[in-house]
Order: sequence, then C-alpha cells, then structure tokens
Amino acid sequence: MIAIVLGTRPEIIKMSPIIRECEARNLDYFILHSGQHYSYEMDRAFFEDLELPEPKYNLDVGSGTHAGQTAKIMAGVEDVLIKESPDIVLVQGDTNTVIAGVLAAAKLHIRVGHIEAGLRSFDRTMPEEINRVVADHVSDYLFAPTETARQYLLAEGIEENKICVTGNTIVDAVLQNQELSKKKADILDTLGLAPREYVLVTAHRQENVDSPENLWNIAAGLEAVHREYSLPVIFPMHPRTRKMVERFAIPLDGISVMSPVGFLEFLQLESNARLVLTDSGGVQEEACILGVPCITLRSNTERPETIEVGANILAGTGASEILAFARQMLAQPKSWQNPYGDGIAGRMIVTICRGLSRGRKTSIKS
Ligand code: UD1
Ligand code: UDP
Repeated sequence: MIAIVLGTRPEIIKMSPIIRECEARNLDYFILHSGQHYSYEMDRAFFEDLELPEPKYNLDVGSGTHAGQTAKIMAGVEDVLIKESPDIVLVQGDTNTVIAGVLAAAKLHIRVGHIEAGLRSFDRTMPEEINRVVADHVSDYLFAPTETARQYLLAEGIEENKICVTGNTIVDAVLQNQELSKKKADILDTLGLAPREYVLVTAHRQENVDSPENLWNIAAGLEAVHREYSLPVIFPMHPRTRKMVERFAIPLDGISVMSPVGFLEFLQLESNARLVLTDSGGVQEEACILGVPCITLRSNTERPETIEVGANILAGTGASEILAFARQMLAQPKSWQNPYGDGIAGRMIVTICRGLSRGRKTSIKS
C-alpha cells in the first residue's frame, strides 16, 4: 500500500500525476492531506480542477508557526501511519508537510520516497531549503527531477542506489491539463486580455512578502514594468501576500490583483503571457516548460536548469533591477529545451514504488 502525503497547492498539483497513475492501475493507495492549505482557492479548487479523489484523511492543521505547524502534522501523520501501516510513503517538494511526513514515517521504519529530491538554493535562510536537506537525508528513495539534482545529492554523500532521475511531475501535470485548459478555461476573455499583451505575476516567498521593504520594492518594480510597456500586470495573489499587502499598506498602482485562480485558468494565463515575474518554484518551471520568459524575484534559485537554458533570470527584489531584467528578457530569443523531462515522471515513480512494495527491488539507481 502507498500513502501519498500532501498539504499545499503545489503538492496537490505535482502529486496529481502520481494519483492518476495509482487510480489508472487500480493500486492500493490513499491520500493523507495535512490541511496546511485549506482556503478553497488554495486547496479544494485543485481537487475539482484535476478531478482527484477525496483524501482519505485530512488533518486540518491549518496555519501556524513553523515548529507548531510541523509538530501538528507529524503527530497526525504518525497516527494515520500506525493505523494504516503502508509499505511506502510518498512526499513531494519542500514544505512543512513534507518534512513532517518524512520524519513521522522514518521513525516508524516505514520507507519514504521523496519526489523532487536534490533541489538546492544553498540558502539556509529559506525554510524550504532546511526542509529539502532534511527530507533528502532522511528519505529512503530520492526521485530527482534532473541530473543536476542527482549530482547535488551525491555531493552530499547520499548513496547512488537510493537515487533515480525521473524528470519533474510538473511536466506530466502541464501536458495532462494543457488541452483541457484550452477548452475549459476562459479567463483571458473574462479579464479582457489578449495573448502576449499582459504580464503575469505571483509572489509569496516568506523572505519577500513578510518584509515590507522587499514587498514595497517588488510592487515598485511591477509598476515600472507596467509603465514602460503599457501592459496589464495580472497578479493572482497568494493569501499570505494579500495579508502582508494589507498589513504594510503597499501601493499597487497599475497592478490587477485578484484571488488565486484554478490550475486550468493559471495554465491559460501563463501560456499566453508575454512575461512571467515570480518567486514561486513551480511557476519558474512551468514558464520554462511553456516557452514563456521568466524573471525570478529572488537572488537565488533551486531551479538553475531554467537559467542555464535561457528561460529564466534572477532579478532579486530591487525595482530598477526588475525593470532592467524585464527589458533584457523581452529582447532575448524565446526558444529553449525543457530540462524537466518528457512527462513520464509519475509513471516511472509509481512503477518503481510497486516494485519496492512487492519487495522485488532495493536499489532504484537510474
Ligand atoms: C507554503 C510553503 C511554501 C510553498 C507554499 C505554496 C512551507 C514552509 N511553506 O507557504 O514552501 O511554496 O506553501 O503555496 O511549508 N493561508 C491562507 N489560506 C491557506 C493557506 C495559507 O489564508 O489555505 C495564509 C495564512 O495567513 C497563513 C499564510 O497564508 O498564515 C502562510 O501559509 P503557510 O502554509 O504557512 O505558508 P505558505 O506561504 O503558503
Ligand atoms: N498556481 C495556480 N493558481 C495561481 C497561482 C499558482 O494554480 O493563482 C499554480 C501554478 O500553476 C503552480 C503552483 O500553483 O503549479 C505553484 O504553487 P506556489 O507558487 O504556491 O508554490 P511553489 O511552487 O513556490 O512551492
């Protein structure tokens, strides 16, 4: 039996190809939702859009401090794992749900597979970097999206036979939903936008939006891009960012702020944007996969592949840098190879997990 532990928007999206694969093969599995994300547009909207089955368990932990939230998830995951006794637990990414799931499972001697293993920003001030490092070192199986990620794991002394390069399940999710998005989503019409005639923004990193200075600078940079190109700036805003914009009274002149949108709508917004500006990990990857230039509102990234292929650039949070890099990205050629695989990561991971749960395999080396 496979236990799929998830809790936030990107985990639901990036686990969806795994869940679909388990359903298609009629495997014995269940979904355990931590409840880290709980607002309709951060949680349920994705189960509906992606037509995913209901989680068997939802811990409803909600928001909290890092330790408080992680502790609640650990205790809840432990109870469920003791009751269900799965053969393997799967987690995806770098959130507090991931680290809690990994620690709870490992201490019960249940094998854990970490999907999207080996990402490193080398910036330990990011809560996600701590989660990634611990999750990778405690997990039994590491599903690395790229060869670069595999090399980072090897450099940290992780055994080769625990690692398999699978590609990133976000490619599967994009390919599986792109056509559906074209058919079902009508957000461009609803917002009165023409293809390539707007820029798309997301931002929610703690180190960006919880700092009034950084948030103010990002807003000023977006306004400068809006003024220079006379393009609408579309900003579906994460609830954390909304809270901070209100708390710090950040002016958002010329920026169209809206609630977060569903995955099909977001894919439509991304694939038709002239430029994407973001501090999200998943959005950097998707822009690269969809052939849309990206400016990352950070000074580092754990997605260096997007920069190497010329799809992404690091601008930090300074207003003048954001404008300068926007000029540079808009002037550059826009064709590159997607470095994240060909959309079969979910199938590969589930095939490997089946072999592991039947006890046929111990090494997953690719
Ligand atoms: C979390 C992850 C981050 C990931 C992001 C995806 C950690 C440490 N952070 O950040 O890596 O990129 O999810 O979006 O795990 N809130 C709501 N409704 C919700 C969820 C959150 O209103 O459904 C608000 C609350 O005010 C909450 C704040 O957002 O305090 C932050 O939520 P939290 O889950 O702590 O972190 P994220 O910023 O969402
Ligand atoms: N996303 C979405 N609607 C939005 C904003 C983002 O569906 O309004 C999706 C996006 O397509 C991507 C994922 O959310 O797959 C990224 O999640 P987020 O930025 O919250 O987290 P991160 O990837 O940084 O961990």
